[in-house]
Amino acid sequence: MLNAAGIAKQGSDTIFSWWARYQNAKSAGRDAVNGTIGALLEDDGNLAINKAVDAAVRAAPEVEISAYAPLSGLPAFLDLSKTLALGETRTSFEESGFHLASTATPGGSGALYLAANNFLERGQTALLRDRHWGPYNGFLQNNGINFVTWPLLPPNGHELHPYFADKEFEICLEELCSKQNKIMVWLNDPAHNPTGLSMGSEGRAACLSSFVTSALNNEEIGHTMLIDSAYSLYADEPHAWAETILDAVESGMPWPENLLICIAISLSKSHTIYGLRTGALVSIHPEKDVIDRMNTVMGVTGRQTWSAAPRIAQYCVSHMHSTEEGGAAWGVERDRLKQLLDDRRMNLKAECDLLNVPLNPTMDGFFAWIETDDPVTIAESCAEMDVYLVPLIGGVRIGLCALSSKDMKKVAEALANAFGLVK
Ligand SMILES: Cc1ncc(COP(=O)(O)O)c(C=O)c1O
Repeated sequence: MLNAAGIAKQGSDTIFSWWARYQNAKSAGRDAVNGTIGALLEDDGNLAINKAVDAAVRAAPEVEISAYAPLSGLPAFLDLSKTLALGETRTSFEESGFHLASTATPGGSGALYLAANNFLERGQTALLRDRHWGPYNGFLQNNGINFVTWPLLPPNGHELHPYFADKEFEICLEELCSKQNKIMVWLNDPAHNPTGLSMGSEGRAACLSSFVTSALNNEEIGHTMLIDSAYSLYADEPHAWAETILDAVESGMPWPENLLICIAISLSKSHTIYGLRTGALVSIHPEKDVIDRMNTVMGVTGRQTWSAAPRIAQYCVSHMHSTEEGGAAWGVERDRLKQLLDDRRMNLKAECDLLNVPLNPTMDGFFAWIETDDPVTIAESCAEMDVYLVPLIGGVRIGLCALSSKDMKKVAEALANAFGLVK
């Protein structure tokens, strides 16, 4: 009965299958540690919950729970989504004549879907980094979009910006511009999944500059850059991209008509409401006509795909952030959760340093990463020492979000053993 696309869909998600192995080990009474899932857990293994958000959701009037949201989102939430995307730079953008579009979506995934559905033509190719969140492939493929990748890190190092492979990016852009009339780049930064990398201000500036130059040199080719900010509110610089873009604009960077920047926001992690499926696709452009069109196109796509995004969190979260106390209470909880991640990352790095474990650069967010050509063998070897991590393409993901600080010695020892570093 299945069509070709249906037949190509395979089950057994790698992350969930390694999580199940951890759970089995635990139920068998082993002293296993869990670095598998992508949700933030307290040190005791329970799901970490932002109490301010939880209280706001519990106080919801019943109509806000039951009613549909407007198709494109509740106005107060659309307003909040722009602030979550741009932070304090929002006012400067608006004062400089920029316009902002926003459509509420079921999580950040919905925002990615809107982009996959509307920017490239079917059969065209998107540009991603080689290490990226696995579901990107499906969002794109289900919309008939192929993808190519450029390396996450400069293969031979780079003095000025060690976390952005500029030459490779430019080569890919040029090649795509020679083949198709639209370009779309997806970039999960800061606090990248699966590595925890944040690009750094020079890297971001260089990346933006290459992209804008490509748009200026190819004025017939639409250029869309999507910043996936799923984890950014746990980063040291949550609105790093907005700041880079604003700096460039204020230093006179021309903004060609064929350039659109979108920010996919997700409240799943930042507000610990994974299951309430709330996010937005925010777009920025100097022309109001372009922004009006984005609002229409994305709203219609949502209508034709999931109808309206869930109302409850749109209501509760925007209501909470509408008061100074509400925003501050959320911030206190967010800071507490960020501290958990920062402590875990610091401990892991320290333990890995002691044993010379070659951890990738990792700064922010839920994960750390170790590159390897043989991720399954490494993860299997760690599992033998009761450390459960996730083997993905090109490396092993270490879920700092799920581990506790006291687990890090054990994780580093398992990795050292797996990499043959133990004499
Ligand atoms: C890189 C990245 N982008 C986007 C998302 C979207 O999350 P959600 O759809 O739950 O908001 C996730 C979730 O894991 C992610 O890891």
